[in-house]
Amino acid sequence: MKNIEIAGSGYAVPGRCITNHDLEKTVDTSDEWITARTGISTRYVSETENTVSLGCRAAVNAIANAGITPADIDLIIVATMTGDNLTPSTACLIQEKLGINSRHVMAFDINAACSGFIYAMHIASAMLGQYRCALVIGAETLSKIIDWTDRNTCVLFGDGAGAVIMRPGEKSHMAFYADSAGDSSGTLQATGPLLHPALENCQRTFGYLHMDGKEVFRFAVKAIEDSIHHVLEGTGVTPEEIDLIIPHQANIRIISYVARKMGLPMEKFFINLDTFGNTSAASIAIAFAQAQQQGLIRPGMKIVLVGFGAGFTNGAVYIRM
Ligand SMILES: CC(C)(COP(=O)(O)OP(=O)(O)OC[C@H]1O[C@@H](n2cnc3c(N)ncnc32)[C@H](O)[C@@H]1OP(=O)(O)O)[C@@H](O)C(=O)NCCC(=O)NCCS
Repeated sequence: MKNIEIAGSGYAVPGRCITNHDLEKTVDTSDEWITARTGISTRYVSETENTVSLGCRAAVNAIANAGITPADIDLIIVATMTGDNLTPSTACLIQEKLGINSRHVMAFDINAACSGFIYAMHIASAMLGQYRCALVIGAETLSKIIDWTDRNTCVLFGDGAGAVIMRPGEKSHMAFYADSAGDSSGTLQATGPLLHPALENCQRTFGYLHMDGKEVFRFAVKAIEDSIHHVLEGTGVTPEEIDLIIPHQANIRIISYVARKMGLPMEKFFINLDTFGNTSAASIAIAFAQAQQQGLIRPGMKIVLVGFGAGFTNGAVYIRM
């Protein structure tokens, strides 16, 4: 286990709230279907903001919450699959907006889809020591890659960003687990703008997010359970002893299935997907920040963050606060 603390957290969502009733007007769906099958009631969608601006707002909130200044940060990792550009990275653009101009700052993006924030925390933990203060962000504007005429996907996702400040600290410690299993079969994918080499043909198109919901569901429930067991290996802590589990916010049925299977009460699981929907790499980061704001995260508590997503990817972080 590593002696690392989360010094602060913050989140941001865009201004426009889309309700299930709003979606009833644009696709063949109903509030009853969406609520019963997913637990989602609303999601926030960006009209004027991008991944950089959402990530930056979350970062500003996390920096204030930690009581530090941007100049204290020397490592910035952004987990996203909807960066505004291929380059410069979202992390570099957030660095510029935050005015972190000192030398010896490392800033870069990673893409592990909805597991991205877990992966980014894992990477930051390995780099802390050489770096002294990490800003770790999960930020997405999924609305850019959602087909708003496809009822199978458009009801599930939202935009947003969350951030934490990680630094070495004697009081709390963490353990990490990550896994991936390449899958190009299209079970869960959004193809990119550079799929075809220019010499072959000059197509510059990107695909909307597409998935086989049932197959993803099957993967998700196994990935959550496996990740929790693996991250606790060697910690001496059992799942029953965990005070709070913050899972990727994809579907209430995925979470309640896992709770039942593991014999854990639903009260142990933090849920905000009813309000925000699935915000991919931002989801666990937003949930952590919201739980902290609500006073649900206190010193001495044992917490697990657990994610799964396209790739396939999955992973977990154990935190003894
Ligand atoms: C997507 C998901 C909610 C669908 O729930 P489901 O119980 O598997 O529903 P099905 O796919 O069996 O669809 C049942 C029916 O509802 C229909 N349907 C799908 N979306 C609908 C919607 N928004 N409104 C109304 N009906 C809908 C389907 O077309 C299907 O109709 P049919 O029986 O006439 O073919 C569920 O599979 C899921 O959450 N999977 C995981 C997805 C996920 O989390 N992805 C992100 C991972 S990071």
